Amino acid sequence: MKRLLLLCCALSGIFSQAAFASAELAKAKNCMSCHAVGNKLIGPSYKDVAAKYAGDSGAEERLTQKVLKGGSGAWGPVPMPANAQVSEAEARTLVKWVLSLK
Ligand code: HEC
Repeated sequence: MKRLLLLCCALSGIFSQAAFASAELAKAKNCMSCHAVGNKLIGPSYKDVAAKYAGDSGAEERLTQKVLKGGSGAWGPVPMPANAQVSEAEARTLVKWVLSLK
């Protein structure tokens, strides 16, 4: 029982850190050289991305694949190159974080 309690505490600590961790991950994975949370750089701002796909239940999967493979046409002619430095799990974590921004 005591163990379980400890586990719960540890997990809730991890979850409260999740947003912060994703921001750090985006920096570490070079996403922030083309993106910012609140304004457009080379790529769209992450808040604009979140607004565009709000309520779109398929967005998480599509955007995860797009982060991995790159692509263009959703925001303009400038393509996002494939991001081979992220795993599929990391891409999903990043996309979830982006879509959670308001
Ligand atoms: C070299 C610049 C560059 C880098 C590095 C980059 N992006 Fe992008 N990103 C873009 C551009 C440009 C677009 C717009 C593509 C389009 O119009 O379809 C974009 C679009 C996106 C979108 C929205 C896609 C859509 O279809 O609406 C997401 C989400 C995204 N990027 C996440 C990331 C993440 C996460 C990383 C880091 C792993 C990353 N990007 C790294 C340039 C970049």
